[in-house]
Amino acid sequence: MKRTAIILALVFTLMLSSHAAAGNAPPLYKTIFQRAGNNTGAKIEALLKEMTLEEKIGQMSLLACGCEVAVSGKKVSYKDEIRAGKAGALFGAYTAEKTRSLQRIAVEETRLGIPLLFGFDVLHGHRTIFPIPLAESCSWDLEQMERDARIAATEASAEGLHWTFAPMVDIARDPRWGRIAEGAGEDPWLACQIARARVRGFQGRDLSADDSLLACAKHYAAYGAAEGGRDYNTVDVSLRALRSIYLPPFRAAVAEGAATVMTAFNEFDGVPCTGNSFLIKEILKEKWHFTGFVVSDYAAINEMVNHGTAATERDASEEAVNAGVDMDMQSSAYRAFLEGLVKENRVSMETIDRAVARILTAKFRKGLFDDPYRFSSEKRQKEHVLRDSFAIEARRAAAKSMVLLKNDKALLPLAKGVKTIALTGPLADDRPALLGGWSAAGRGEDAVSIREGMGKRFKGTALLYAKGCSIEGESREGFAEALAMARRADVIVACMGESAAMSGEAASRASLDLPGVQRDFLMELKKTGKPIVLVLINGRPLTVAWEASHTDAMLEAWFPGIQGGNAIADVLSGDVNPSGKLTVTFPRSLGQIPLAYDGKNTGRPFDPFNRYTSKYLDMPTTPLFPFGYGLSYTEFRYSPVTLSSDELHLDDVLTVSVTVKNMGRFDGEEIVQLYLRDLVGSVTRPLKELRGFRKVLIPAGRERPVTFTLSAEDLAFYRRDMSYGAEEGQFEVFVGPHSQEGEGACFTLKGSATFPE
Ligand code: NOJ
Repeated sequence: MKRTAIILALVFTLMLSSHAAAGNAPPLYKTIFQRAGNNTGAKIEALLKEMTLEEKIGQMSLLACGCEVAVSGKKVSYKDEIRAGKAGALFGAYTAEKTRSLQRIAVEETRLGIPLLFGFDVLHGHRTIFPIPLAESCSWDLEQMERDARIAATEASAEGLHWTFAPMVDIARDPRWGRIAEGAGEDPWLACQIARARVRGFQGRDLSADDSLLACAKHYAAYGAAEGGRDYNTVDVSLRALRSIYLPPFRAAVAEGAATVMTAFNEFDGVPCTGNSFLIKEILKEKWHFTGFVVSDYAAINEMVNHGTAATERDASEEAVNAGVDMDMQSSAYRAFLEGLVKENRVSMETIDRAVARILTAKFRKGLFDDPYRFSSEKRQKEHVLRDSFAIEARRAAAKSMVLLKNDKALLPLAKGVKTIALTGPLADDRPALLGGWSAAGRGEDAVSIREGMGKRFKGTALLYAKGCSIEGESREGFAEALAMARRADVIVACMGESAAMSGEAASRASLDLPGVQRDFLMELKKTGKPIVLVLINGRPLTVAWEASHTDAMLEAWFPGIQGGNAIADVLSGDVNPSGKLTVTFPRSLGQIPLAYDGKNTGRPFDPFNRYTSKYLDMPTTPLFPFGYGLSYTEFRYSPVTLSSDELHLDDVLTVSVTVKNMGRFDGEEIVQLYLRDLVGSVTRPLKELRGFRKVLIPAGRERPVTFTLSAEDLAFYRRDMSYGAEEGQFEVFVGPHSQEGEGACFTLKGSATFPE
């Protein structure tokens, strides 16, 4: 018996050493797995036993496709690094053909043949580009967002991708920060629902399905709180703010099963997030039981040297891996230093094995060990990329994301009697701009411009066009032609805003005004006396107080994606009644920032008759457009709020009801919002917190009852001792069309209780 075991072991060792030279033989991991039996854990263990330290570090490294990597001062091509077993994942490679050829290197030319994981930033679509995430969040339509992510996953996985670096779940309250465009706005509660919807959408029901992508909740954590709204800047938030505002969407994404999490560039409490074991080990992995793997952001490990918590990149690698960062994105730090760190006992082999096991588990879950090429299918690529049905969804999603900010004298929808429209502005005839930032594999030529969309929809109307001016720059040369055109029209539709590059990463702005001479151009247009519809194309709240008082109608269309032109025409024509509501506050002026709807009362709340209260001398404290705000072509009237009781017991629920009536001539969808205020707490509490919403379609002239149920858990927060629970006492509940308007009622919570976070 003992002899047989020895012979078998010898044969196996021989197989291992001769495998690489074996040409068409199956990859070695298969042989190792066969020996381990059917259990995934046992297979991973067996594979780990066979892996050299170098191979393990390879699995912990994510390289960028097309880039050269520096290894000991020498530049090496990423393909050679794959060949040498020094890459576990690759980003930026897609299409069936490309991913297959790169996968072939990993599977056929490395000793063990472990397949690569292909990742990419698929944030709001892959080829079918949907509205930017901030825009989509304004639809408050979780099913639509889930569907859009599903479509993105279907297209991207058909092009060989396995993993998206999305959803971005950072709460952002400073519109100067360009990455506000990538998230779901300022409210943690809503962002949690959206994070879950997007994770469900990307991953689908089964990670091993052909159309599923591993999701990645990023950037962990508090990246959105960059001081001054300057990207990559220092973050200094309290532990209470971290827990109450910034962590909940990550917690939600993890609870929904997000397979990976990306660390942020910034620090928390003086420790860079990429080396922060409190965040990664204690909270994410231990407290939340996150079983996926953690990847650093791009070169974030090396950047700990700049942060000043590591003297060298070697120290930075030690900090990151010991804090729980399983995979190094493109910094080469792990590849350069981990081996030495293990040899010096500064990093344990157990730490390495745990990280590699998490990464291999993700590859198992994707079914890559069964068939490494399964996602690289020309057939699926042809079937799914840019499907017509996807364009229909993109158009629907874009129209739902738009927010009608102003509509004096019901200028919109454009009346049938309008004979001549003057279409103008730098964004009226710009296809690529509509895609917005992080548009993955999106192409400008796939987009429908506003001019094209309007041209198709307003066939019987004379649609005149002149650009007028550029997005940036000082030139006024185009004004005269555009003004002459405007004078001949019944209405002006001016399409203005930002370029796609003005939001997203490294795109902070210190001014939130319309860039260039756009406002000057608008001033000239105003002088024509013609009614003006301003269509805004942008990735963040802009300071448009002047525009709001000098135009007749304003539609916030954001970066609406490839069907943007059609969707804008749908809304302007009235084919779609706008229903989007802002998920982020629009300040009147830069000086009010940061400004979110859930501020606190302070010890000196604003009193117009008392100078020594909280206010500005030169500006109201209120926003231009508040969180939750958005108009419709119809009007909704809310009844007073009724409660099922004026007491809520710990084991019971409270029903909150209103009736909403559509008073106008158009059928319309209304987003009915429920806010709470905890009047007295062990710590100060926000004036309002969103705790529910319903999106209801109400036909013209009809009314609909809308009900919400609240339990004690909905009233929970981080109490003075940082435990999570609800405290006995009085609460106000408001139901209304946005955060600054709504009927209120009071109830008392009877008893206090602690809840799981
Ligand atoms: C840096 C960005 O911060 C992150 O969001 C992105 O996923 C990576 N680069 C990869 O492109």
